[in-house]
Amino acid sequence: MKILVTGGTGYIGSHTVVELQQSGYQVVIVDNLSNSYASVVDQIEKISGIRPDFEEFDLCDEKRTLDFFKRHSDLDGVIHFAAFKAVGESVAEPLKYYHNNLQSLILILKGMQENGIQNIVFSSSCTVYGQPDELPVTESAPIKEAWSPYGHTKQISEKIIQNNANVTDIRATLLRYFNPIGAHESALIGELPIGVPNNLVPFITQTAIGLREKLSVFGEDYNTPDGTAIRDYIHVVDLAKAHVIAVDRLVKNKNQKQVEVFNLGTGNGFSVLEVINSFEKVSAQKLNYQIVDRRPGDVEQVWADTRFANDVLGWKAEKSLDEMMLSAWNWELALKKAK
Ligand code: UD1
Repeated sequence: MKILVTGGTGYIGSHTVVELQQSGYQVVIVDNLSNSYASVVDQIEKISGIRPDFEEFDLCDEKRTLDFFKRHSDLDGVIHFAAFKAVGESVAEPLKYYHNNLQSLILILKGMQENGIQNIVFSSSCTVYGQPDELPVTESAPIKEAWSPYGHTKQISEKIIQNNANVTDIRATLLRYFNPIGAHESALIGELPIGVPNNLVPFITQTAIGLREKLSVFGEDYNTPDGTAIRDYIHVVDLAKAHVIAVDRLVKNKNQKQVEVFNLGTGNGFSVLEVINSFEKVSAQKLNYQIVDRRPGDVEQVWADTRFANDVLGWKAEKSLDEMMLSAWNWELALKKAK
């Protein structure tokens, strides 16, 4: 079985490539390296012992993308990660986000259609729910107005896939991720933010290792037990494993609907201060942080109802918050050693 992984040198993509290979899938990566490095292919090979095929080009390039699908008409499925994901940047440069995230998806679907490739797993996000009225949030919760162009691209992408499935035989699984963190236990792959990290966990580990002076905790006046915002953090390897199950389900024709949607989280919410405490405990480091104002656009609290994914996919996130934070720290230490 041969799978295209777009964005396969990126953070979630690289972990998924490893899990696919370890489950016997052959992988072709397409990535334009806009937010990742070609050396990740070497790291993947070190872990799995198998070098994935890799083609470097931009999936917004119509000619190259359609040509790729023509050359790879034997693909059994596609897992589409390649996208921009910085919320703040999307507010500052909306056209960049709409163009990149939507154009690439449209061309992938076109290429699949032209070559009879039927299965796609799509990277979506819990951001499509905004601040849900009820917690934990289920897959049938209403899609609220997006708070950022990034979030909007995820909502529109889901719609494009749905509308297209209505009139073609392309089957899709939409995976709504909560907050992926941590790194592979080998510490050979992990999150590699270019520039100042936007996300909490890389900011924590970079502060502890001395790359950043201090972490700003955005807001302590939320309506939560300790006043800081709550998220459902999930280990990236748990998340990667869910992709293998999702793609397996599609290629073996076990899906019950043409488009299926799953929340991927642990079902547990942790506050920013709880994440910091876990980090300090497992790393034996004292973290320099200060409380500042809320970050515009942040929701107060969100965590997943994971019953549908647990029951239907037979998948469950296994790693604890401490394990997630320790793996993130080991990755940061490995990066320092490699310098
Ligand atoms: C956001 C998006 C999510 C997207 C993800 C990828 C929303 C609502 N969520 O997640 O869809 O997939 O980015 O980049 O748009 N925090 C601090 N200090 C920091 C950084 C973060 O206190 O320096 C806090 C935030 O306020 C938040 C939590 O940590 O409460 C997690 O933040 P972050 O890691 O940026 O993820 P989200 O904003 O939840």
